[in-house]
This record gives sequence, structure tokens and C-alpha cells, in this order.
Amino acid sequence: MNTNYKYRPKSVDEFVFATPKLETQIKRYTQGKSMLPLVLHGEYGTGKSLLADLIPKALDGEDVKVNYINAEELNSANDVRKKFFRSVQFDKLFSANGQKNNYTVVEEVNFDPKAKGALRVCLDSMAERELFIFTTNEVEKIDRGLLSRAEVVEVLPAPPDRFFPRAQHILRGEGVDLEDSVLREVLETVFENDYDNRAYYRALDEIIEAWNDEANFMKEGE
Ligand SMILES: Nc1ncnc2c1ncn2[C@@H]1O[C@H](COP(=O)(O)OP(=O)(O)OP(=O)(O)O)[C@@H](O)[C@H]1O
Ligand SMILES: [Mg+2]
Repeated sequence: MNTNYKYRPKSVDEFVFATPKLETQIKRYTQGKSMLPLVLHGEYGTGKSLLADLIPKALDGEDVKVNYINAEELNSANDVRKKFFRSVQFDKLFSANGQKNNYTVVEEVNFDPKAKGALRVCLDSMAERELFIFTTNEVEKIDRGLLSRAEVVEVLPAPPDRFFPRAQHILRGEGVDLEDSVLREVLETVFENDYDNRAYYRALDEIIEAWNDEANFMKEGE
């Protein structure tokens, strides 16, 4: 069992926000209130890539077309222009199959891109026509010029009490009946040790496996 995949949130409603502030920041995007480039930064496994996937879906549906760019491609100005830039004229003629917006997601920008000048020019010339989402673990390495143009949002891991309802939902879905106090204790330990949402799912995997092993053991004993 990998609950991480099976119970991956399908919409922003299922996303576990670590703080009300984060929820407000993200919902401005999912409600179409902001088109500023969005930089999602934070520790491993906090849901940055997940949000980069769910935001375009919230705005333009499950089948939304997203332009995914490898961060390495930000190293040459030519690449940046080729991959990013489309003229206003082009967009008027070929706006992506009736979508409200165009989307570009650049994952793992964990370095200062060589082509930052070209990137700034693209961001400026495509402002309001294209939603850019960047994810990174190391925001301090990102070009200050990019950050200045963007909404910079820190994605923190969910505290145990916030993750609790989601964990309960998953365990119920798998037919596991664990006491709330035990579940709370597990989540608290995971948060203290790992500070990573992925670790919650791993702990749930272990609980589910132990539960099923126990159930099988009881059956064999009958
Ligand atoms: N806030 C969250 N709410 C619900 N599920 C989450 C959340 N964060 C992470 N997950 C689960 O963990 C998985 C991994 O998250 P994701 O890949 O988005 O992390 P990330 O922040 O991009 O990590 P990395 O920095 O390692 O790339 C998701 O597919 C999802 O199943
Ligand atoms: Mg990621």
C-alpha cells in the first residue's frame, strides 16, 4: 500500500493547508484573483509540486494543458525564449483549446538560472496572459529579479492536528479502526522527527500493513 499515491488530493479542497495564511494565499490563485508568477518554496514533501498541479486544474479543469519546463532549460537565453515566449498575436490566434489561461510550471529551480535576464523579460511580456508557477527547496538561490515579480509563498508541512482528519479519512477508507489518541500520537511523532508530509503517509502505510497482518493472523488462527 502506498497511501501517498492512492489518496493524493484530486483537488485543492483535499489539500491539507499548514496554516490559514497559506490557504488564503493559494485560494487567491485557485479563484482566479491573481496571475502574478507564483514561487512555491519549502521543505521536501510539503505539497509544492502537488499545488503546481492542482492550481491549473482548479482554474481550467482536470484536462488542462500545462507547459512543464525543466529548470535546467533556464540556463540559456535562447532556450528560455524558445520554451517560454509566445507573442500576444499568437495567443490571440491559438489560445490553448478554450482554456481561460495558459500555464507554465517550472519545478526544482534550486539554483540561480544563467538566463535570468531572458526569463525576466518573458515574465514581463507575458504577464496576465500566462500563469507561471515555480517550485523550489532553495528560494535563497533564486534570482532576486524573479522574486521581485512574483508572489513568494512558503509551503510548510501540515502540523499533526491539521493532518489528522485526512489521516482518519485514509484509515477509514482502508478499514482500519485505530483509536484517535493513538493516531494523534503517531502524527505528532512523525511531525517532530520528519517535518515532511510524505512521512505521514509512510506512517499510515505501516499502520495499515500491521492492521492487515494482524487480521490475517487472526483468520489463520480460527
Ligand atoms: N499538504 C498536503 N496535503 C495533502 N497531501 C499532501 C500534502 N503535501 C504532500 N502531500 C502528499 O505527498 C506527496 C508529495 O508531495 P509533493 O510532491 O507535492 O511535495 P513537494 O513539496 O513537491 O516535495 P519536493 O520538495 O521533495 O519536491 C503528494 O503527492 C501528496 O500525496
Ligand atoms: Mg516537488
